[in-house]
Amino acid sequence: MANKRIQIINGPNLNMLGQREPEIYGSRSFEQYLEKLRPKFPDIDILYYQSNIEGEIINCLQNVTAYDAAVINLAGYSHTSVSIADTIKAIDKLVIEVHISNVHAREEFRHKLLTASACKGVITGLGLDGYELAMRYCIQNNFAG
Ligand code: DQA
Repeated sequence: MANKRIQIINGPNLNMLGQREPEIYGSRSFEQYLEKLRPKFPDIDILYYQSNIEGEIINCLQNVTAYDAAVINLAGYSHTSVSIADTIKAIDKLVIEVHISNVHAREEFRHKLLTASACKGVITGLGLDGYELAMRYCIQNNFAG
């Protein structure tokens, strides 16, 4: 049987992880994190996509034949994007939202997550471990949304 595929999507500025506000987001790049993550899931194909552009994130999410579940950190778009929230509602897939920092312990404008209610759940504030935990949920629940 073919491996299940989990699509990780990172939104704007997350290509700068490691250099960007390291006191909040840590000093590791996402590529470095992925190197440690992949061997923990030898039977899962981890697809990674990062974009700073809203429409490109939507295109990736809409490409539902490419993946079985999605783990997404929409970064600033989580607080603003009606369009990405609509996409998550439109697709029949298990989608989990992750934030590296605890958005509820930060500025008030970060407390509102427009996309969160469209997702199965949200992990916020557990650092990069949030991605791994979200993946474990997908596997344990057999990719069922
Ligand atoms: C973030 C939190 C967002 O508020 C912020 O805009 C980001 C990163 C996080 O992972 O903690 O870019 O999504």
